[in-house]
Amino acid sequence: MDQRRTFTAFVVTLVSALVVGIAGAASLKSPPLREIRWTDHDLPRAETVRALTTEPAECLVTPVDLAQQEKIAIGRAVFRSPLLLGGQAARAGVSCASCHRAGRGNPHFVFPGVSDAPGTADVTSSLFSSKRGDGIFNPRPIPDLVVDPATVDRNPAKTDLNRFIHGQIVEEFDGLEPPAAVLDGLAAYVGALGGRCGSDVARTAMAEAGEVKAAIQAARQFLAVPDQPAAHLLIAAARSALGRLDERYARVSGIDRRLAARDGELQQVQALATTAPTSAIGALDRWKRRFDKDTEAMVAAQDRSFYSARMLEAALLATHSP
Ligand code: HEC
Repeated sequence: MDQRRTFTAFVVTLVSALVVGIAGAASLKSPPLREIRWTDHDLPRAETVRALTTEPAECLVTPVDLAQQEKIAIGRAVFRSPLLLGGQAARAGVSCASCHRAGRGNPHFVFPGVSDAPGTADVTSSLFSSKRGDGIFNPRPIPDLVVDPATVDRNPAKTDLNRFIHGQIVEEFDGLEPPAAVLDGLAAYVGALGGRCGSDVARTAMAEAGEVKAAIQAARQFLAVPDQPAAHLLIAAARSALGRLDERYARVSGIDRRLAARDGELQQVQALATTAPTSAIGALDRWKRRFDKDTEAMVAAQDRSFYSARMLEAALLATHSP
C-alpha cells in the first residue's frame, strides 16, 4: 500500500495545482478521503459530513435468473472501481459511482476543469479524455440513472447500452479495452437500475466490506473460466474497495496494518492469476477467511473511524474554514 500512498501524494499535488481553493482539502491534516476532492467545497460542513457518511439507497430490480444476477454483481463491482477508467479519472480515484452514486446522480460533484456548477461534468473534457476531448468546456448535469428519462436505449436485446458504456470507458475516460464479460456486466447492472427507491442509507464498514467480498467472488468466477484479464480487473476492484476502507481507518492503529497486509496479498494473487489461476482460487478462499476477521475488527472499531459522522466532523473542523 506504500506505493499507492506515494502515488496518492503525487495525485494530490497534481490536482491541487489544477485549481485554486482545493489546497485546503488536500492539506495533510484533513481526513484522507479522496472523495472530498470532488465534493463541493462550498457546502456547509454538516452537509459535507452527510454527503460523506450516507449515500442514496440503491434501486435495483433483481432478476430471478442466477446467471443474470451474477452479471449484475460483476457490473456493480466494476462500476465502483476507478481502475475501470483510465488517465486522470483513475489517478484521482474517480469511478462511475463517483458521478452516479449508487447509480443515481451526485448533486455535490465538483471536479476542477470538468464541472462548472455542482452536479455537472463535462465528459468530453480533455482533462479526462485524450480521444474525445473537444476543447469546449460544456459540462452537463450528471443524470440520475434511475429516475431521469434514459437517452440511451437500455433494451437488453439491443447493443446500444454496451456500445455507449464502451465509448465512455475507452474514449471518454481513456480506460483500457474492457473484457467482454465485464462490459456485459456493466450493461446488465445499468439495465437493472430502477424500481422503487428508499431513502438515503448510512455508509458502513460492513457495506464496504461487502463490496470487497462481492468483487472477490466475481474474480473467483473469472479465474474458474479462466478469464484472467477479467479476474485481474475484479481483484483491482476489490483492492479499490479495500483502499476506501483504509482511508476510513487511517487513524485507527491496528486496522490500517491489517488492511495493508490484505492489499499486499491481493497484489500477489493478481500476479498468480496470470500464471496459475487454480492456485489463485485457493489463495482467494484463504484470503477471504482472513478478511472476514478483519471485517469483525472494523465493525467493532467503526465509531473511531471516518464512518462516524462525529469523527469526520471533528477532523473537518480541524482543517476547514466553512
Ligand atoms: C465525471 C462524471 C461521470 C462519470 C465518472 C461517469 N459518468 Fe455517466 N454520465 C455523466 C454525464 C454528465 C452524463 C450525461 C452526458 C450527456 O448528457 O452528454 C452521463 C451519462 C450516462 C449515461 C446515459 C444516461 C441516459 O441518458 O440514458 C449512462 C448509462 C452512464 N452515464 C453510465 C456511466 C457509467 C457506466 C460510467 C462508468 C464507466 C459513467 N457513467 C461514468 C457523468 C459521468
